[in-house]
Amino acid sequence: MEIKLENTEKTEELAGRIAEDLYPGAVIALYGDLGSGKTTFTGFLVKALNIDARVQSPTFVLIREYKSDKKNVIGKVNHIDLYRIKDVKEIEDLGLEEIFAEPDAIAVIEWPELIEEKLPQNVIKIKFTYDKDGRKAEI
Ligand SMILES: Nc1ncnc2c1ncn2[C@@H]1O[C@H](COP(=O)(O)OP(=O)(O)O)[C@@H](O)[C@H]1O
Ligand SMILES: [Mg+2]
Repeated sequence: MEIKLENTEKTEELAGRIAEDLYPGAVIALYGDLGSGKTTFTGFLVKALNIDARVQSPTFVLIREYKSDKKNVIGKVNHIDLYRIKDVKEIEDLGLEEIFAEPDAIAVIEWPELIEEKLPQNVIKIKFTYDKDGRKAEI
């Protein structure tokens, strides 16, 4: 499925629709170049899940956690950004399996190419593009 994202409202709409179908343990892999809209999508997804947090690109910290103080079914989003990682060995200590197995959380991963074979089978993949035709997401 391909969706045009002419403006951030469209990104918010998409995030809202994806959020409706999410379940604890879901893993979402966000592909796309720098500036294509991955972090923007993540921000709207966190908002749609009723988690009140400021979403920033975790480029320098590898992972950011956004938690709800309410009793949400999905009470936490683990936001991972592998942009700076050159070798999977660098993230051995991160404990990806444990993160994916957290019972009330979902994981969102920017630049997931490096851990392609570590992604669970039911991963939701979204590819963002931004070129002369504008912004698009492919799910
Ligand atoms: N659908 C959209 N329409 C217009 N601008 C957008 C859209 N999605 C993202 N942007 C803008 O593009 C810029 C880069 O977005 P960002 O989400 O940080 O990209 P990425 O995380 O893929 O590097 C931001 O200034 C953001 O506001
Ligand atoms: Mg980003």
